[in-house]
Amino acid sequence: MRRATIAGNWKMHGTKRQAHDLLQGIKDNSQTLDHVELIVLPPFIFIEQTAQALNDSHVAWGAQNVSNQEQGAFTGEVSASMLAEFACRYALVGHSERRTIYNESDAVVREKFSRLQASNICPILCMGESLEQRRQNQTQAVVQRQIDAILDTQGVSALQDAILAYEPIWAIGTGESASPEQAQEVHSFIRHYLAEHNAKIAQNIRILYGGSVKPTNARDLFAMPDIDGGLIGGASLESDSFIAIANAVSPD
Ligand code: 13P
Repeated sequence: MRRATIAGNWKMHGTKRQAHDLLQGIKDNSQTLDHVELIVLPPFIFIEQTAQALNDSHVAWGAQNVSNQEQGAFTGEVSASMLAEFACRYALVGHSERRTIYNESDAVVREKFSRLQASNICPILCMGESLEQRRQNQTQAVVQRQIDAILDTQGVSALQDAILAYEPIWAIGTGESASPEQAQEVHSFIRHYLAEHNAKIAQNIRILYGGSVKPTNARDLFAMPDIDGGLIGGASLESDSFIAIANAVSPD
């Protein structure tokens, strides 16, 4: 059984005060959500505050990014071992904003992925196509290439302790989510593709959907057989909407 997972990617938003209120709101309202794994991914600078706020809760936390280097003269970077010191259990790698705005290649994403695993942090590998690529029927090829970046170098066993997130770029921050059927089609493709390498890992790996998930569309998305939860951007910045999305996961 795959545990439903709802992760909030705050991106570059918030003040210390807002982070405090958001964390408190999530903590106070997460008690009845035992069937869902909740994860918050604040900006680096708020991670210590997050760790203190959530220490005695069952909400996990992590980072939105990590360096591909272990340590050294890399101004502005944060290493996986530093994240581990602050008890980060998860970190995003390969978010489309990192790939497109900061030109992160598949090779860099792979290095980040393995740095995290070396520090016992579970990578959440983000994948997804642009609108142009979807129009040209390249969705599966793009997603497959993004997974192959890991499979080809680290083997399928590297996915034993990882989460995948399918986030079509055209649905991120646009208010226009993929339909449940569109998302399911890609999630199913990913799971079938992994099954060609290892059926058990394919069966067990969590694949989250991200891109304009809101309380109003979450239930239909999460009802799909291969969608194991969501990676939430805008709607994770208010505890009410984040918790409402988590409540859209059915308890069975
Ligand atoms: P939105 O939920 O704001 O569309 O963002 C999705 C996302 O990029 C999460 O990583």
